[in-house]
Amino acid sequence: MTHVLVTGGAGFIGSHTVDLLLSQGHRVTVLDDLSTGLMANLKQCEGNPNFHFVKADVAEDIAETLDQVAAIVGPIDRIIHYAAQTAVPLSMDDPASDVRANVIGSVKLLEYARRNKVAKVAFASSSAVYDDDAPVPVNEKSSVRPSSPYGIDKLVVEFYLDYYARLFGLKYTALRFMNVYGPRQDSKSWYSGVISIFLDRAASNTPITIFDDGEQTRDFVYVTDVAAAVTKACLDDAAHGEIINIGTGEEVSINTLAKLAIDLAGSTSVISYAPARPGDIRRSVTTMDKARALLAFAPKVSFADGLAHTLNWVRTQL
Ligand code: NAD
Ligand code: UD1
Repeated sequence: MTHVLVTGGAGFIGSHTVDLLLSQGHRVTVLDDLSTGLMANLKQCEGNPNFHFVKADVAEDIAETLDQVAAIVGPIDRIIHYAAQTAVPLSMDDPASDVRANVIGSVKLLEYARRNKVAKVAFASSSAVYDDDAPVPVNEKSSVRPSSPYGIDKLVVEFYLDYYARLFGLKYTALRFMNVYGPRQDSKSWYSGVISIFLDRAASNTPITIFDDGEQTRDFVYVTDVAAAVTKACLDDAAHGEIINIGTGEEVSINTLAKLAIDLAGSTSVISYAPARPGDIRRSVTTMDKARALLAFAPKVSFADGLAHTLNWVRTQL
């Protein structure tokens, strides 16, 4: 049994990862400040003796908190690091707060990891690090030039991971997620993921707003597929020192997505257009070769099935 610390484990992707780790018989400690995460996302874990939760801000002095966790639950073997401010527009409004949560928090965690001989860290990076002018599909060698403070912060943490690996031998894998969607992604806030927003509006027959001309594209990957890739990267030493894109290789435009959401929900929602969001990338889709080769990753959930599962969940939230 491995003891895995999952930072941001009360969030959307984190909570699905916790479910998977527990189902595999591992011991899990979630560290989350509940800024966007919810205890409701973890209510299925209540009463599981292998599950522990600590409410803490990863950018505070977490060493003491984690020492207490280790004294009670046992040493932390491996870490999955999700805790972050995740909205691109918010990072542009308040870049300093983004640095605090996304960079300072990550460095504090890496310091803890190297001092306590943690075997490996899996880090949730993002396709937001890529240069918008890089030819698509991007691969891990494509040029990086983030269009947002959020993307800059993710890239900086990748450099810290490389530094800790070279100087202290800390093992890591950084996974650059494309656009993740699925149940438990907040559908109410305006800066949440576009699929949860569109399905919420479609299911409630309220207007859908498309920013820009809607011809921008994204590679949408279902949350349980992402959780499986991250879990494997964390538990397996094989992909140490690697940066790996996690997506599907399928490019979907925001116009197409809006129509699919309306059709799937049998909705009367009206689509309107608004100016482009600053910092928005234009096209985003990845090759799958490296994830396939190093993690044996192939998405299991098709886009049609993933949208249907997500719509079912969104309806339970209305
Ligand atoms: P989320 O907001 O649901 O999860 C983030 C979690 O981190 C939340 O539970 C939140 O409460 C917690 N958190 C935030 N700041 C914290 C802090 N300072 N200390 C402790 N906990 C803190 O978002 P998500 O979509 O599940 O994202 C998880 C990770 O994946 C993030 O690192 C995000 O940048 C990355 N990512 C997400 C996507 C996507 O499409 N959703 C794509 C690329 C990368
Ligand atoms: C998302 C993630 C980010 C991640 C990145 C990886 C969220 C909140 N953000 O950012 O953490 O690193 O993917 O690529 O999950 N749009 C509309 N109407 C809306 C909402 C959005 O047209 O009501 C458009 C946006 O302008 C954008 C696209 O949909 O062009 C996707 O937006 P969003 O879901 O917020 O994702 P990203 O900004 O790509």
